[in-house]
Amino acid sequence: MTDNIYPIKDRMESRSDKERILGQRGLTIWFTGLSGSGKSTVAIALESILSSKGYLCRILDGDNIRTGLNSNLGFSEEDRNENIRRIAEVCRLFTDTGIITIAAFVSPTTNLRRMARDIVGKEDFVEVYMSTPLSECERRDVKGLYARARRGEVKDFTGISAPFDIPENPAISIDTTGSDPETCAMRIFEKIESKIRKNRDYEENYL
Ligand code: ADX
Repeated sequence: MTDNIYPIKDRMESRSDKERILGQRGLTIWFTGLSGSGKSTVAIALESILSSKGYLCRILDGDNIRTGLNSNLGFSEEDRNENIRRIAEVCRLFTDTGIITIAAFVSPTTNLRRMARDIVGKEDFVEVYMSTPLSECERRDVKGLYARARRGEVKDFTGISAPFDIPENPAISIDTTGSDPETCAMRIFEKIESKIRKNRDYEENYL
């Protein structure tokens, strides 16, 4: 399928050119966890910390991806696979542009997360497991989907009628029960700061 495609990557500016302009290093922060575990909320808090410190970042989550790029996909195993594959490819494009990319998707299985990591590249991939227990996610039930899933009205619902594999070796695990999003986000920021740190070369040599 790729026979007649000639990449122009070797003629485009490189990732390090982009990173020099931005004064930061690209990275994908991949949140995984049950619906209602706090992925999007902590992602937003992390975005706010990064922005306040002058880092350019971009959140990708179900609301902006499943209504646009992936609006043709549902929740079958095959569709989730395609959902995560496309998202990971987008993460790679952003990361290659030097942008800190925050992906917040259930990504329920080890295979899905492995595929995402392989597409993004393991050096650029930090897995954050939102370990908030099912009982707490179900208690919150922000979207009313757990109640509907229990009534059998939503099929293949992660945690109820579809599997969630607990990540084996996440960089960080966060249970949001009883802790505020800013504190959770700051833990992530502290973990990634050395990977994204602004290099001062640009300011010293160009400004
Ligand atoms: S993933 O499994 O393919 O990674 P994704 O993160 O994009 O899922 O979407 C999950 C969101 O879609 C949930 O937070 C929930 O609001 C909604 N949703 C609707 N149906 C389902 C379902 N069957 N399983 C899980 N989430 C669902």
